[in-house]
Amino acid sequence: MNSKEIIQLDRKHLWHPFTPISYWMDPAFHPISIASGEGAWLIDTDGKRYLDGNSSIWTNLHGHRQPQIDGAIRQQLDKIAHSSFLGLTHEPAVRLAEKLVQYVKAEGLSPSLDRVFFSDDGSTAMEAGLKIILQSFAQNGQAQRTDFLSPDGAYHGDTVGAMSLGHSDTFHRHYKPVLFPSRKVMTPACYRCPFNHAQPEQSDARSYRKCNFECATLAEEEIHRSGDQLAAWVLEPRVQGAAGMVMHPHGYAARTAAAARKVGAQVFFDEVLTGFGRTGSPLASHAEGFIPDVLALAKGFTGGYLPLAATLTSDEIFQSFGGDPDRTFFHGHSYTANPLGCAAALANLELLAEPQKKIQHRELIKNIQTLSQRFWTHPNVGDVRQEGAILAIELVADRSTRACFSPKERLGLCVCQSARVFGLLTRPIGDVLVLMPPYCTTADELEQMVDALLLAMQKEILV
Ligand SMILES: Cc1ncc(COP(=O)(O)O)c(C=O)c1O
Repeated sequence: MNSKEIIQLDRKHLWHPFTPISYWMDPAFHPISIASGEGAWLIDTDGKRYLDGNSSIWTNLHGHRQPQIDGAIRQQLDKIAHSSFLGLTHEPAVRLAEKLVQYVKAEGLSPSLDRVFFSDDGSTAMEAGLKIILQSFAQNGQAQRTDFLSPDGAYHGDTVGAMSLGHSDTFHRHYKPVLFPSRKVMTPACYRCPFNHAQPEQSDARSYRKCNFECATLAEEEIHRSGDQLAAWVLEPRVQGAAGMVMHPHGYAARTAAAARKVGAQVFFDEVLTGFGRTGSPLASHAEGFIPDVLALAKGFTGGYLPLAATLTSDEIFQSFGGDPDRTFFHGHSYTANPLGCAAALANLELLAEPQKKIQHRELIKNIQTLSQRFWTHPNVGDVRQEGAILAIELVADRSTRACFSPKERLGLCVCQSARVFGLLTRPIGDVLVLMPPYCTTADELEQMVDALLLAMQKEILV
């Protein structure tokens, strides 16, 4: 099929996630149909090449058509593609669980998360975690612990439970009547924090903030107030992705999590985005020096190949489901622990452990740091923040006051649309531009990404 035929058929039958219909159907808009991939590149049906600037919605780690992952899936396919995991097991799952537990373990940090519950994606990993927490407390004589607390703007996925844990008006407002109530604290977003008295500077707002870490204190106080009603403090450690790549001051996750543990609540970290090296360390939890009680992983788990997710817990939580069969965790999915996904995830973990890949990963992060400074040449850049291999560029109407552009202008979107012409694919979050390249991205390719984004900014924002 040529691209015209694909788009025509697409528009006749398909419905795309997070995509306004009017926008997709507009004849003036030319959707891109991806035909293949190669390393950090995506190639459309007409043969035009684009750099994958957001790792295919934050999932891809080692590039497209990565030989080891391709090979692992092919090998598994020669054995079996899928069988049930309800009361059965298989080698790829047990080998993966062992490797994953090792990957999560960190010297001197407890608890040890020795139990792995597989699911399909970030939302289902969060859904499983929240049900595990509720049932575990109920079975341990603490059924009153039903409160969940998280920062404003939190996003944990689109299932009803995962939405209930989040606080995003844009994504959740139509479903509020059926979501269970959960509470929130302020977002620890230094650039726009009311407690940060610093004048704007041309660097990451976290580096020049003038405050007394009020965001952490307020969260600690709220956790303390919740006391024995609190089931879990739920947090995307270090980076709140969908909130606009909000990057927390370091230590926020550890301080608030310690407060939650003190009142006997569970600490539930959502590392769906931040896991597998995205923030520089294997997990953001490691960088914070705090291992949660429950941990959700997805996105990069299979290197961005197949839908597979995991919810990890301590053995103690697992044991609380033992004994009477009435305590069974009646939860799961048809494709739980899909063997193809497990094979891909195993290959991903092996790649992450390779010394050469570790060097490449470190160099990418260093290159992002160096090249990110170029964004300051544009007067409408208010904040440039980086956490590992994630770069966020916040556009503002006025740098000196941090004033936003009108949301009606949809400037972030316009810039990203324009960047396509210059060979870059990425999605903004409002007026926050995101660069989150696959780890295999070379220095040259990264420079092309930055050039494309800057050219698009110059074209779309008239100064
Ligand atoms: C932090 C976080 N949690 C959960 C999710 C939901 O993941 P999925 O889209 O795989 O269901 C996302 C998705 O962006 C996310 O960023």
